[in-house]
Amino acid sequence: MGALLEIKDLGVDFGGFRAVDSVNMKIGDGEIRVIIGPNGAGKTTFMDMVTGKTRPTKGTIFFNGHNITGKEPGEIAGKYKIGRKFQGPNIFENMSVYQNIEIALKGYTSIWHTLTYKPNTRKRERIKAILKKIKLYDMKDFMSSELSHGQRQWLEIGMVMAQSPKLIILDEPTAGMTADETHQTGEMVKELAGEHTIIVTEHDMDFVRQVANRVTVLHQGKLLAEGLLEEVEKNPEVIQVYLKED
Ligand SMILES: Nc1ncnc2c1ncn2[C@@H]1O[C@H](COP(=O)(O)OP(=O)(O)OP(=O)(O)O)[C@@H](O)[C@H]1O
Ligand SMILES: [Mg+2]
Repeated sequence: MGALLEIKDLGVDFGGFRAVDSVNMKIGDGEIRVIIGPNGAGKTTFMDMVTGKTRPTKGTIFFNGHNITGKEPGEIAGKYKIGRKFQGPNIFENMSVYQNIEIALKGYTSIWHTLTYKPNTRKRERIKAILKKIKLYDMKDFMSSELSHGQRQWLEIGMVMAQSPKLIILDEPTAGMTADETHQTGEMVKELAGEHTIIVTEHDMDFVRQVANRVTVLHQGKLLAEGLLEEVEKNPEVIQVYLKED
């Protein structure tokens, strides 16, 4: 089986500083890949290159058989179907939870239509299914501004899901969450993996243990180790640079 995402010799320099250096990686269809590594390892920068936010200075990114290296973020999201949840607020505060998912489903250009037309039954069912997956169905009529920090993160995950991405990229999705919300997010991410391929970074090792299968460890822009979590956790170099204090 071919990889859904294939990264070859990927790197980027910021004014002489190499934030990501010659990374090679293959991620299979339907996989959950967790990327770990110390602060400044290059995890976010790696994701920025896959989603088109940062242009690589070398290497190639193949996704679903296409070379997407250096393409625009809008094209990567819309045409190639790579969705990303950013840190920071991306929700419409003064709209309901339901309306936020509805807008994401229709595309952000049609806010006016969302407010004036009723979606068809098929769309309503899809919105309902997403709301259930993100555990916000019971809160669908609440204003988004009334949600807790954790629930907002879930709403954002739902908005990414609504765009039907093949690959979903989540950068520290549990940041600022309670232990209980973090655990629920782990369950949600595992469920997502049925329909989507997932790349997720996290510092919370309980979360990593909960969701992980294969793990990639980045350190100073380089790929330090890769394998099943059980293997990677025993790797002396990984313990030295990252897991020591855990
Ligand atoms: N636009 C930029 N210009 C210059 N340096 C940058 C830029 N973006 C990132 N860096 C540097 O690249 C390195 C990698 O940063 P990155 O944010 O990718 O790390 P990370 O692994 O996501 O860390 P964290 O776990 O703290 O989120 C850091 O040293 C950072 O300061
Ligand atoms: Mg980061």
